[in-house]
Amino acid sequence: MSAAPGGSSPGFARGRRLRSTPALRRLTAQTRVAPADLVLPVFVKEGIDEPVAIGSMPGVVQHTVDSLRKAAHEAAEAGIGGLVLFGIPSEKDAVGSQADAADGIVNVALRELRADLGDELVLVADLCLCEYTDHGHCGLVTPAGVVDNDPTLDRYASVAIAQAQAGAHVIAPSGMMDGQVAAIRRALDASGSTETPILAYAAKYASGFYGPFREAAEGAPQFGDRSTYQMDPANADEALREVAQDLAEGADAVMVKPALPYLDVVTRVADAVDVPVSAYQVSGEYAMVEAAAANGWIDRERAILETLTAIRRAGAGQVLTYWAVEAARLLR
Ligand code: PBG
Repeated sequence: MSAAPGGSSPGFARGRRLRSTPALRRLTAQTRVAPADLVLPVFVKEGIDEPVAIGSMPGVVQHTVDSLRKAAHEAAEAGIGGLVLFGIPSEKDAVGSQADAADGIVNVALRELRADLGDELVLVADLCLCEYTDHGHCGLVTPAGVVDNDPTLDRYASVAIAQAQAGAHVIAPSGMMDGQVAAIRRALDASGSTETPILAYAAKYASGFYGPFREAAEGAPQFGDRSTYQMDPANADEALREVAQDLAEGADAVMVKPALPYLDVVTRVADAVDVPVSAYQVSGEYAMVEAAAANGWIDRERAILETLTAIRRAGAGQVLTYWAVEAARLLR
């Protein structure tokens, strides 16, 4: 039997037909990344006059309130979906008092941004204590050095109220204490913020990829690590349990973090739930690409867009990424 020229089937599929021109590839692309899907994490630091560069995250800074306002306008201009805010106070203490102080840096920044931008960008408040505590843990610590779950919930409740009243559109608890979503939902409801949604960092792993963030947010644990509250990287089924629990407690949306090393988890969570699923492309993911690109080892822009596409393809609806504004411009 001879191979058929022209029309009839040659006995194999020609996948290349739909790849032959940029226009065909664009038309048939299954996954798209839109600027509106992207959320930019930002750091605002108390007591500085100028933005401070973060060595391990080239292009990322600790902002002053003023420089943050400018960056927020640029982000809105670029068409991204929102910002997630991290505050770095001048004074830290054992209970993280500055997290819920009305004049605490993150609450000041939220108020200014909300006044400036109204509802133009979604302002997400990361809710955790590690940037605010002198010991650097995400919760209160007992004299024996154990991170104490239940008393921490009262602190989170108070921080949620302060952030919502300062103008946060969304509260995003990232401390991985059990019961945190229920505690925050109750507090928001009791204080009149019934319409403020909770984006739960539901499946947050104890990851080596948070290293550069700890320089950016100055929140490294001063003893021990976060393995008693963040998830073990070995576990995937447990992510589904954490997500189900957070939804049962009242979460409106859930997050998987980090992103690229956990795409299997992103997919499983996205398949399992009917709420928005976001993924956080964390500081170490950013630093790896930046470092390789700085050495000329990879094509930086191509790699950035490929990672974002991969995270969306895995099933994340929203992506938190330090490249949000730059990627939005590339995507235009
Ligand atoms: C704090 C927090 C961390 C990140 C976001 N919120 C660090 C940590 O858990 O140690 C990491 C983000 C990043 O690496 O970009 N709860």
